[in-house]
Amino acid sequence: MYTRYSDELIEEIRINNDIVDVVSEYVRLEKRGKNYFGLCPFHREKTPSFSVESGKQIFYCFGCGKGGNVFQFVSLAEKLDYIESVRLLADRAKIVLPESDDTEQAEKAKLKQLVLNINLITARYYNDVLNSRHGEPAAAYLKKREISGNTVRKFGIGYSTDEWDNLYQHLRSEGFDDEQLLQSGLVLKSSKSTLYDRFKGRLIFPIFDVRGNVLGFGGRVLDNSLPKYVNSPETPVYSKGKHLYALNFAKNSDSKKLIVVEGYMDVISLHQSGINNVVASLGTALTDSQGRILKKYADEIVISYDADTAGQAATQRGLDLLNEMGCSVKVLTVPDGKDPDEYIRKNGPDGFKKLVDSALSLVEYKIKVLRSEQDLTATEGKIAFLNKAAIVLSKVDNIMEREMYIKKLSREYEISEDAILSEVMRRTKPAAKQSLKIANAVEAARKVTTAGDEIDEKLLHDERLILSLLCVDNSTYKTVKENFNTMFFTSAENTRVAELVFSRLENRRDFTPAELLDAVNPEDTGKFARILKEECYCDDNRRAILGKIRDIGVLKAEKRQKQILEQLNDKSKLSEGDVDKLKQELKDMTQKMNNIKGM
Ligand code: GTP
Ligand code: MN
Repeated sequence: MYTRYSDELIEEIRINNDIVDVVSEYVRLEKRGKNYFGLCPFHREKTPSFSVESGKQIFYCFGCGKGGNVFQFVSLAEKLDYIESVRLLADRAKIVLPESDDTEQAEKAKLKQLVLNINLITARYYNDVLNSRHGEPAAAYLKKREISGNTVRKFGIGYSTDEWDNLYQHLRSEGFDDEQLLQSGLVLKSSKSTLYDRFKGRLIFPIFDVRGNVLGFGGRVLDNSLPKYVNSPETPVYSKGKHLYALNFAKNSDSKKLIVVEGYMDVISLHQSGINNVVASLGTALTDSQGRILKKYADEIVISYDADTAGQAATQRGLDLLNEMGCSVKVLTVPDGKDPDEYIRKNGPDGFKKLVDSALSLVEYKIKVLRSEQDLTATEGKIAFLNKAAIVLSKVDNIMEREMYIKKLSREYEISEDAILSEVMRRTKPAAKQSLKIANAVEAARKVTTAGDEIDEKLLHDERLILSLLCVDNSTYKTVKENFNTMFFTSAENTRVAELVFSRLENRRDFTPAELLDAVNPEDTGKFARILKEECYCDDNRRAILGKIRDIGVLKAEKRQKQILEQLNDKSKLSEGDVDKLKQELKDMTQKMNNIKGM
């Protein structure tokens, strides 16, 4: 679909608008398993058949067949065209769009651009102050913490003097007026209506977005006074919990792994030691929107928080979300209550890398937390612990992984594997069974007949399913590439979409289900949404794809057989030689089909 915004920008807007949050503004949703259900806003109904899936970021109504991504939801709900819904959601996420002709939008875009300009000038100003005579106390502090000049330059670190309004005066001299400066959040209004600087006597850390814009600032005191940090307030370009500090650097690291730490100093210190795949969530518990950003840039997330922050419900939700989205999530605990900065300064990069390698899986971590909460010497504590552990294990979809944990628990607590397994099974989500039933029914229904035109429809469907699975699980690209080529798609439309998806994955960038829904012909959105919803659920996507490639082989052979039979029915148009050739081909075709089916 043609838009004038870049794919990257569209993706950034999507990442910052969780479909569950957005839909919740219109529909009351209730969580069941991995899905949310509610009454469909697009057709009348009494029992909920409208579903939203957070992991894939899609919605689908089993009743009316409408489905799509967050943009398509807003288009339908607000009766907007696609571009208008992109604008609305960009605004909701405080993302600046390039110039548009809509005046209200243009005003907002201008305001955002203005604040970004003020921020950039401010970052330069504070950095200049740090490098000047006035910055000596901060320079001494940085030296004490072993932060090099290169690192200061790389992160644009600065210093705000302990004066009333130095920055304010500087920005005025740059031509900004009071109204504009108040929007930036960098100055505040006193009771006497004069303006003064927000940051005083603080080390300044600019917060960049992935494109290198300065969104806001964090400021740290140079001593032990409180508050330790002051951050930019909510502004037209900055929202708490929506960004990851240092992602602009970390996204360029070769690693498919991202390490998440809590603070500015941890990130800076690790980057300085050559560990580049590190970002900070800046003190907040990991939020859902940060989770989605992480998923975009990494397959494996290692979270290195203080034990108490990692245990927080909000952080756990962010981690569960990442896990549901198919990221491998690990939890790293730095020994002796140290933070990563202190640890790496004592033990060096290799020491820290060892910690990363020994990080616990999310399940192991949760079980560890549960264990620490119970007194296991008492029978009651032991039972409570095992019950809670069974709940955690019941959510592990991968059977082998689950078995491994059960074995481990069984060994550690001398309880039979069978007993644990039956506790786990008792708690397995009925929702999972339900969705499996639907999928089986669909599969069964599709298997009944194969009348002439139906073969084409089936082919198109199976091709769409391959594309969908590929987007749900990008790691299957190698399998697809080895067995299927963009030329094998039977319609021009599927070929076009395949070329788009393949070329992106070829360049080792990802392609999400929600993006797929943007890429397809608007008429097909509902079909793809249904497939994503109902047919992309299994543990082994690679096998599912291989199965579909095989089905396609059979369908194509069947199709050719039918053609041959039709031609043979009307022999008047054929020479003797043609008839023999066709019969031979028919025989080969049948042989080939039997071969494929027997595979
Ligand atoms: P150092 O003490 O210099 O090593 O800083 P740190 O970055 O390690 O900070 P710490 O581990 O204490 O806190 C982690 C993060 O939480 C910080 O980087 C800040 O983003 C945030 N934070 C900490 N203290 C405050 C505070 O007083 N106010 C606010 N708004 N944020 C804070
Ligand atoms: Mn620290």
